[in-house]
Amino acid sequence: MASLVIAVDGPAAAGKGTLARRLAAELRLAHLDTGALYRATARDVLAAGIEPNDAEGAAAIAAKLDPASLADPALRSEAVGRVASVVSAHPSVRAALLDYQRNFAHRPPGGAAGAVLDGRDVGTVVCPDATVKLFVTASVEARADRRVRELEAAGGPVDAGAVLADMVARDERDTKRSAAPLRPAHDAVVLDTSGLDADEAFEAALAIVRARA
Ligand code: C5P
Repeated sequence: MASLVIAVDGPAAAGKGTLARRLAAELRLAHLDTGALYRATARDVLAAGIEPNDAEGAAAIAAKLDPASLADPALRSEAVGRVASVVSAHPSVRAALLDYQRNFAHRPPGGAAGAVLDGRDVGTVVCPDATVKLFVTASVEARADRRVRELEAAGGPVDAGAVLADMVARDERDTKRSAAPLRPAHDAVVLDTSGLDADEAFEAALAIVRARA
């Protein structure tokens, strides 16, 4: 039986992770944060002392990734995020992570009736046949501001200018790379969360899903 697949794509800090988790909980679907696969690859690349620009070395690490390690809190660090953005530009790394994502979508764990996957290329590459595709975005300033507040809440001193510059650089890499660049699928519904709080964004996303699933 074909499962219900909801693709939630968008740039960094657009709020897609929170949205995807809430949609999955509300609709009793499995959830996969596909960015965690790239972050875990980055963590393992760093730990192995491999140069992030070494596509072959990074792809070998991606092929050996242990899905049980995706909940590691170390994956959330800015340093790991930066390296994730570099290793994810290698087509061989993306290819190594494709089967895991497709299997998760089409045979969700725990017998769930479907899955919500969030990332950059779920609607365009991983699951072009997804039931519903959302492209969640917000202005780069709104996203940098959210990231600054998250980092402040985590207790560190925060350089807001550096966070904005990093966000601009990451957008640039994610949208300009030749392998699976970040862009909305032609049949995605674009949801701009710049002026919305988390609850408003969730309600808007749920209405879009309910109208289509
Ligand atoms: O979403 P998150 O910030 O955790 O993703 C980390 C990095 O992984 C992103 O900067 C992006 O380059 C990459 N990524 C990707 N494709 C995905 C998910 C994430 O290239 N589907």
